[in-house]
Amino acid sequence: MKGTGTAFRRVVAVLLVGIGLGAAAGARAFEDDEGCLLCHKYPKMGRVTEDGARRSYYVMPHVFGKTVHRNVPCRDCHSYIKELPHREVKEGVRCDSRCHSIKNPATGKNFSHQPIYEVYRRSTHGRPKLATGLDADKPYCVTCHTNPIYNPDEDQPPRHITDRCVVCHEDRGFVEAWYNHTSRRIREVRRGSAEIVSLCSSCHGDEKLIQRHLEAARRDGRELGRKFEIAAESYQESFHGKVTRYGFTKAANCLDCHADQENYYLSVHEILPSRDPQAPTYPDNRHRICQRCHKYADESYAAIDPHPGDDKVHNPFRYYAEEVYNWIGNIVIVGLVGLALFETIGRWRDGVVWRLRHGSSWWRRSRRNRDRII
Ligand code: HEC
Ligand code: HEC
Ligand code: HEC
Ligand code: HEC
Ligand code: HEC
Ligand code: HEC
Ligand code: HEC
Repeated sequence: MKGTGTAFRRVVAVLLVGIGLGAAAGARAFEDDEGCLLCHKYPKMGRVTEDGARRSYYVMPHVFGKTVHRNVPCRDCHSYIKELPHREVKEGVRCDSRCHSIKNPATGKNFSHQPIYEVYRRSTHGRPKLATGLDADKPYCVTCHTNPIYNPDEDQPPRHITDRCVVCHEDRGFVEAWYNHTSRRIREVRRGSAEIVSLCSSCHGDEKLIQRHLEAARRDGRELGRKFEIAAESYQESFHGKVTRYGFTKAANCLDCHADQENYYLSVHEILPSRDPQAPTYPDNRHRICQRCHKYADESYAAIDPHPGDDKVHNPFRYYAEEVYNWIGNIVIVGLVGLALFETIGRWRDGVVWRLRHGSSWWRRSRRNRDRII
């Protein structure tokens, strides 16, 4: 920050002394010590972009203060803002940037999501922040992650635990912050199966997106998985999909099969196509996925199709079986109706009529002496 920036900062600093002192008592609450909220706290702030979309630049301090990133100063992420008032934004926030002010206590280095970012860039979904064309269809970090809100219940950790930490660490703020940090991770915070299915299906069930990629792949001679076209809809047809739809949580969801379960939180970012030998869905690795839940699964069990389509291309056996059964069904119905017609016409020619009297039945004797004696 130079020139106007420095002057601006001094003013902001003066303004913040009062606020800062008040906030310090509440331990590690969010502090706007870069003065961004000076402008961004106004609800009306925003603009209409060239393509007509409304963008809001309003940051709600009480909401931001409860998110996972509340201890990260705005400019650690918005690092392109070097002076105030700031210039127009081009690339925006990249999730592999290094925090200037937060250190990773384990490594002593400035904190960054780089390890996840590198895995993600190698994955089938990897793309730069500013992507064009087909790459723009792939999910970036913020497609799957907004800035999640901490559970407010965790704001007051149980005293019987923290009292014990305070004995040594003396500072209750420090202890509570670390307690919250850890306890949130000890509890299971994974998305449920239904959430994952709807996240993946938001793209893999989007017909226009799929057609775009199929056409481009055909044009460039690039390979796509043979289930690419029907991935989301066929999952719904599978046993796993059906029970998941009705609220069962133990059946396989997309990530149970497409992500390695070892080191899950990293592996979910490394989704690879099934033709890649590293992928858990690669034919030779497949039985290991199933074994996790189906104890006795072997290679032949793993050959059961997790994406069963019903059309000729994706599932010829089911397609032809259905065709055959349809024909058998039709022939049987035609035969039955035909038989009933024959019988009716024959009796009618005999002069036997069908009446509704004391229930319903055939009446009168046969003219041709063909009464059936039972
Ligand atoms: C002096 C008032 C002011 C201060 C202080 C301020 N901003 Fe802004 N900010 C604005 C205005 C005005 C816009 C809208 C600019 C536009 O429409 O081009 C904006 C827009 C933005 C945008 C969106 C830009 C885009 O085009 O997507 C980001 C991100 C942003 N500010 C971050 C910050 C951060 C981080 C800080 C603190 C370091 C900060 N701002 C401090 C006035 C301010
Ligand atoms: C953990 C990183 C992170 C922190 C901390 C953070 N932001 Fe952001 N902010 C983002 C991301 C990511 C976006 C989405 C736009 C993008 O991709 O560039 C965003 C969007 C915005 C926007 C809207 C821009 C637009 O183009 O729609 C504003 C304004 C903004 N942030 C201001 C702030 C202010 C003020 C703070 C501090 C109170 C702050 N941000 C803290 C990551 C962060
Ligand atoms: C008997 C004293 C004692 C108790 C009780 C204690 N700690 Fe510690 N803690 C230490 C010492 C000494 C260190 C630094 C040396 C080390 O790493 O072992 C430390 C390190 C830490 C660190 C690492 C800080 C850093 O930046 O490297 C955290 C976090 C921490 N303690 C949290 C807690 C929490 C939370 C509790 C309560 C559940 C707790 N401690 C209970 C003595 C204690
Ligand atoms: C296709 C969706 C997707 C994309 C893209 C994605 N993630 Fe994730 N991420 C997940 C899922 C799913 C989890 C597992 C936790 C859960 O279920 O929410 C996760 C977990 C995480 C966690 C651990 C969260 C915690 O609470 O412990 C971090 C950190 C993370 N992702 C960062 C990133 C970053 C950085 C990027 C971009 C390089 C990224 N993610 C891209 C889906 C995604
Ligand atoms: C934002 C949209 C989006 C989301 C969300 C998304 N994907 Fe994708 N996915 C794509 C695109 C686009 C491709 C690339 C197709 C190509 O290479 O042309 C792709 C590729 C794939 C491939 C490899 C396809 C192939 O044959 O090469 C798999 C497997 C995959 N995704 C699984 C998943 C799973 C599982 C999830 C949920 C965790 C998910 N995707 C979420 C858009 C998305
Ligand atoms: C029971 C395990 C399992 C589940 C659950 C599952 N898949 Fe698959 N998926 C596979 C296997 C195995 C293949 C490779 C099938 C083949 O080519 O015969 C595959 C193929 C794919 C493909 C084609 C690209 C490739 O890698 O061959 C996409 C895209 C895909 N799945 C997305 C999804 C989505 C989205 C979901 C959730 C709605 C999901 N899958 C659920 C096992 C699973
Ligand atoms: C996350 C756990 C999980 C994984 C991984 C998983 N399944 Fe399942 N699967 C289930 C559950 C739970 C059921 C329902 C079992 C029941 O109660 O009948 C089920 C049911 C089935 C069924 C219906 C018939 C039966 O045996 O109950 C088939 C077929 C099946 N799975 C095949 C597979 C195949 C093939 C794979 C590997 C590609 C696989 N599953 C991976 C959890 C899983």
